[in-house]
Amino acid sequence: MANLLVLGTQWGDEGKGKVVDLLTPAFDAVARYQGGHNAGHTVHVRGKKIVLHLIPSGILHAGKLCLIGNGLVVSPSAFLKEISDLIRLEVVVDPSRLALSRNAHIIMPWHPVLERISEESRGEKKIGTTCRGIGPAYEDKAARWGVRAGDLLEPAVLRDKIVENVAAKNRVFQAFGLPALEAEPIVDEYASWGEKMAPYIRDVSELLHGLIKGGKSVLFEGAQGTLLDIDHGTYPYVTSSNSTAGGACTGLGVGPKAIHGVLGITKAYTTRVGGGPFPTELVDERGERIAARGDEFGATTGRPRRCGWFDAVAVRYTCRINGADRIALTKPDVLEEFSEVLVCTGYRYKGEVLKVFPPEPWILEKVTPVWRTLPGWKNSVHGASDAGALPRSFRDYVRLIEDLVETRVAIISTGVEREETVFVPGGLRGLVDLRKLRRGRSV
Ligand code: GDP
Ligand code: IMO
Ligand code: MG
Repeated sequence: MANLLVLGTQWGDEGKGKVVDLLTPAFDAVARYQGGHNAGHTVHVRGKKIVLHLIPSGILHAGKLCLIGNGLVVSPSAFLKEISDLIRLEVVVDPSRLALSRNAHIIMPWHPVLERISEESRGEKKIGTTCRGIGPAYEDKAARWGVRAGDLLEPAVLRDKIVENVAAKNRVFQAFGLPALEAEPIVDEYASWGEKMAPYIRDVSELLHGLIKGGKSVLFEGAQGTLLDIDHGTYPYVTSSNSTAGGACTGLGVGPKAIHGVLGITKAYTTRVGGGPFPTELVDERGERIAARGDEFGATTGRPRRCGWFDAVAVRYTCRINGADRIALTKPDVLEEFSEVLVCTGYRYKGEVLKVFPPEPWILEKVTPVWRTLPGWKNSVHGASDAGALPRSFRDYVRLIEDLVETRVAIISTGVEREETVFVPGGLRGLVDLRKLRRGRSV
């Protein structure tokens, strides 16, 4: 059966959580492949709001297997807290349905401290990270200093690694006048977390291989968005992992042929949290209206998100980078009060019009958007679930986006709830088993 990859095509927070939860009934397992608890994926079920950070957004569907790949960086305290928060909500979370790769890297106590030092030393140019220790944990992975989930289970290995790391990090701490770290309390704390995490720590690549070989289907879940990808995003204003499609292979240990389709989650406008260029940003009352109506506050840090019009140059680029087959368009209901809406179709730069997205911040900071203005769709989309009921002006907006980004829209999300969704007829053909989806949804 077909496996589908769901990922963000903008700067994150496109609504991946809602779409992954919505599609989970059609799959047997959901697998996250990168990032960490910098992510905040929101799912609403019958009026209740649940935010997932590390655990895949399929966890609310009983019996579905949820996998956390080697590509993530995991804070043990965040992992265990998320499990206990879900159990408090009466969600069944146990090792029979949740597994963490033994090769996933562990966020250590020095990582958030090093992140603060790095951000402070950038001054005006700070990235505006989530301060979760994500970047430094990936730095240690690349530098080959990292502690992995499997190391938590081997007391002697864990002690050695922590002692070596503490000696190295203390040289940096000393240079910045910070109190020295002590290895032993850290060894004890992480060993005790290791005991609690042990039943979840598995060979996730092997597990996935067995599932796929046995005819089961997998939904791969990306975190962040393509423009935050370490290679293809607006570097250096990015996160430290590959949030793009290729990250699913490296971050889970599956071959590229295991991915049969790619669904790009795309907001009907644009948002960004933290620093970095944002050509279509609205720094006026219109931006504030979008933020208020769209409830654009970070699901992880609570920071206000910057808001702006839809950027078709950026999304055409991100659909290309990911090989997106289809788009799920989210939050068009937020734009309902505007009598007209704008779409960026190109960038004016040094007397030319760029149609291909330049990821360099020093170019993006100097471009002026070329706009196309369309009539709005006053109070007629929120909550819709029937494609036939969508007004003409909104259908024209969707058509323009599809043409500009060269990718068809298969899902239109019209509100936070599962039911507030339009499935475009035929849109998911070949990507999602709709019979299985319908059967699962009625449970
Ligand atoms: P993610 O990180 O991509 O999972 O997205 P977030 O959960 O951080 O942010 C998306 C926000 O938009 C969440 O609060 C969702 O509940 C909400 N949302 C998702 N789809 C829709 C929609 O179609 N309309 C509205 N109004 N809100 C939506
Ligand atoms: P989800 O999965 C939006 C942003 C941060 C910062 C940059 C680097 O919910 O879409 P980091 O802490 O990762 O080193 O921060 O990336 N960022 C996100 N923005 N949604 C996210 O995740 C994000 N995860 C990181 O704001 O600009
Ligand atoms: Mg989010």
